[in-house]
Amino acid sequence: MKSYLNFIDGEWVPSVSGKFSTNVNPATGEILGKAPQSTKEDVDRAVLAAKKAQKSWRLVPAPERAEVLYEVARLLKERKEELAQILTSEMGKVISEARGEVQEAIDMAYYMAGEGRRLFGDTVPSELRNKFAMSVRVPVGIAGLITPWNFPIAIASWKSLPALVAGNAVVWKPASETPFIAGEFVKIYQEAGLPKGLMNLVFGSGGVVGNAIVDHPDIDIISFTGSNEVGRQINERAGRLLKRTSLEMGGKNAVTVLEDADLDLAVDGIIWSAFGTSGQRCTACSRVIVHEAVKEELEQKLVKRIAELKIGNGLDEEVNVGPVINRSSLQKIDKYVKIGIKEGAKLLCGGKILTDGELEKGHYYAPTLFTDVKPSMTIAKEEIFGPVTSIIPVKSLEEAIEVNNSVEFGLSSSIFSRDVNRVFQAMRDFDTGIVYVNAGTTGAEIHLPFGGTKGTGNGHRDSGVAALDVYTEWKSIYVDYSGKLQRAQIDNK
Ligand code: UN1
Repeated sequence: MKSYLNFIDGEWVPSVSGKFSTNVNPATGEILGKAPQSTKEDVDRAVLAAKKAQKSWRLVPAPERAEVLYEVARLLKERKEELAQILTSEMGKVISEARGEVQEAIDMAYYMAGEGRRLFGDTVPSELRNKFAMSVRVPVGIAGLITPWNFPIAIASWKSLPALVAGNAVVWKPASETPFIAGEFVKIYQEAGLPKGLMNLVFGSGGVVGNAIVDHPDIDIISFTGSNEVGRQINERAGRLLKRTSLEMGGKNAVTVLEDADLDLAVDGIIWSAFGTSGQRCTACSRVIVHEAVKEELEQKLVKRIAELKIGNGLDEEVNVGPVINRSSLQKIDKYVKIGIKEGAKLLCGGKILTDGELEKGHYYAPTLFTDVKPSMTIAKEEIFGPVTSIIPVKSLEEAIEVNNSVEFGLSSSIFSRDVNRVFQAMRDFDTGIVYVNAGTTGAEIHLPFGGTKGTGNGHRDSGVAALDVYTEWKSIYVDYSGKLQRAQIDNK
């Protein structure tokens, strides 16, 4: 049985609690190992180390900081397969997707390493003669990162790499369900030569470790990906301390299929984005808004394709859909399906917990498709986070846009159509942070901003150059070389 420890000030150390949680493979129920159940005191130690280390890290030239990130990228690449296997074992996503997720972290490491030679600010003309004006990015200080289990290394990379290249130190609480991939990521930082104290890993629950990070006065910025409910609580707590938060929360993403769409392509996009990662993506397609003229044909094609999906342990290369994360998630998904049926949605396939043969040992839910769903139904409004999607028929693009935008979230949306005019209208009017044309709702690339509108976030973005806005402050600098006092707004000619 593997056992991981916290990583504080460059050392692998047990929690002061002496307690551990077990790590369970959701595909088999097998206990993989354990990780500490840490306390506020562990967080305090991590912050102390981070504070000390950041004092000198901020003075290391950014291109030199970036050298460490290049090495992180190289090590991630070298260990891609090993990391993917760990990822699948502890959270269940199929191995091809796990490889894709590690690739996302590799891409992010190279990309953010490149930022070490940019980190652009602005130089602007001063309104006065013989005076120079510029703005530069400076690190915020200590970043508290709280990351989820569904993309445990990709999301951790989206947050930790920009934080570090920009000159911050990190205190990281990964999800309790995915401690091993977190431990491995930190080993890579260590091996890459990141100076001690800059990356501190504290395992534990949100209620104890998460809150200790959010409440700690010396942690300057909190970046969180997870549920809406927890994100709101974090924002309230951090708000009292005037602490910056970057929140990435739920989604209720829709694929819109117009009557002129390539239906087979739309089916590919829907299957991939609704059932990939067993629907446990914040970008998952959990609604299919379809023009009534092609509704029946689309339903038939989808049902046929769903029947072909192979469900099982994600380590098997043949499997298309793996387990969901744990029993309570399985029960939550099933509860939503029952509510859907009760509210009058028509179940076309799936709708049950799978227990045949080997599946009995893990947490499997049948890929589920509802139709004749109304936008007012619970399953069309709330995030299910499982392999369940709902067809909502509409009569026009205008109605599709209205339905797309009717939910409280705004992460991702997609349209399948060959009509450039209508596609551009949708691109403009879908109220989401990400829009796809002729592709599903998933598949964000790391060099573009990732995040959403409305209940999905609070205006910040992971990934892309936008991530630097989260981990830096702007400093405006005026240099007067006229040799005399020049008063702005007064001495101008
Ligand atoms: C998430 O579900 O939280 O675009 C992240 C995607 C992935 C990332 C998903 N690249 O679906």
